[in-house]
Amino acid sequence: MRAVQFSEYGPPGVIHVAEVEEPHAGPGRIRVAVRASGISPGETYLRSGTWREVVPTVLPYRTGFDAAGVVDEVGDGVTGVSVGAEVFGMTTMTGRAANADYAVLAAWAVKPAAWSWEEAGGAAGAVETATRVLDRLAVGAGHTVLVQGAAGGVGAVAVQLAVARGATVVGTASEHNHDFLRSLGAEPTAYGAGLVDRVRALAPAGVDAVFDCATGALPDLIAIAGDPARVVTIADFSAPAHGVHLSHSAPADETDAAFGGADPLAVHGLDIAVGLAEQGRLQVPVAAAFPLAEAAAAHELSETRHARGKIVLVN
Ligand SMILES: NC(=O)c1ccc[n+]([C@@H]2O[C@H](COP(=O)([O-])OP(=O)(O)OC[C@H]3O[C@@H](n4cnc5c(N)ncnc54)[C@H](OP(=O)(O)O)[C@@H]3O)[C@@H](O)[C@H]2O)c1
Repeated sequence: MRAVQFSEYGPPGVIHVAEVEEPHAGPGRIRVAVRASGISPGETYLRSGTWREVVPTVLPYRTGFDAAGVVDEVGDGVTGVSVGAEVFGMTTMTGRAANADYAVLAAWAVKPAAWSWEEAGGAAGAVETATRVLDRLAVGAGHTVLVQGAAGGVGAVAVQLAVARGATVVGTASEHNHDFLRSLGAEPTAYGAGLVDRVRALAPAGVDAVFDCATGALPDLIAIAGDPARVVTIADFSAPAHGVHLSHSAPADETDAAFGGADPLAVHGLDIAVGLAEQGRLQVPVAAAFPLAEAAAAHELSETRHARGKIVLVN
């Protein structure tokens, strides 16, 4: 089968499609014939070598954390899903390899009929991450939440999940994405200089929680929240120096040192997302869809850090 991988660190061009052995569904797992899968921005840092000192990577590295497709193998002990079902879900943190013809999923849910394959292929990682952080921040009805980097793959889903919880959401993005943020239910504003004053004007009663999907603004985000404990970032590695929690995840069976301090995976978010999608309350905005063979171009787009929503590969 085909799988997207890189065998050396470097620019997007080191990403290529290789012919590899098909994986099979072990106990507790399912295998899908992939119809679409997500690009993970974090994997662009792995590929470039930026994270080589902090995240041990065995080469060749097969990319892709989330996928949607048709179940064609069901592992021992798996109940509630059969061959032929249309699902979306995620691999293990270390197993990956979802950007391929077949992928083994460790967590999944039924693909909502309202979602295209492209939306479903890029959904699971964003849904899990957004749910994990909104849970940690205990976001609920009546709260006001700031989502920094709200037009990206995670941010666009986080806005909608926070709105679904009954929160009022302020989201940051470049000006040309402000109508997009409004369409998701957020009050938009620009990130960058003057953010504290702009958010205070939009939320005069204060902000209960800040979900940071970007980097470089933690002092402002803490000032907005009033307490570093009310800020969670998924991207800013300077978080510990500011007393802010950097949320990352690992399944319970992957307690490798590299995942120390991990939050439990918020897998329950997948079923919540299905319910919301069926009610027309959750879309997965797709910035672009590339054929599997053009994965390098997908990485190139991701590296602009200005994609609106998820970048996906289609099989
Ligand atoms: N820790 C975890 O568990 C976890 C999980 C998933 C992702 N991540 C990380 O979280 C980050 C976000 O992921 P993603 O999938 O949402 O990425 P993404 O889709 O690539 O994010 C792109 C968005 O970032 C916005 N942006 C760019 N520069 C910004 C800035 N200086 N301030 C605020 N927003 C800015 C852009 O907005 P405009 O185009 O409107 O300017 C664009 O909409 C990535 O670094 C990713 O690696 C971490």
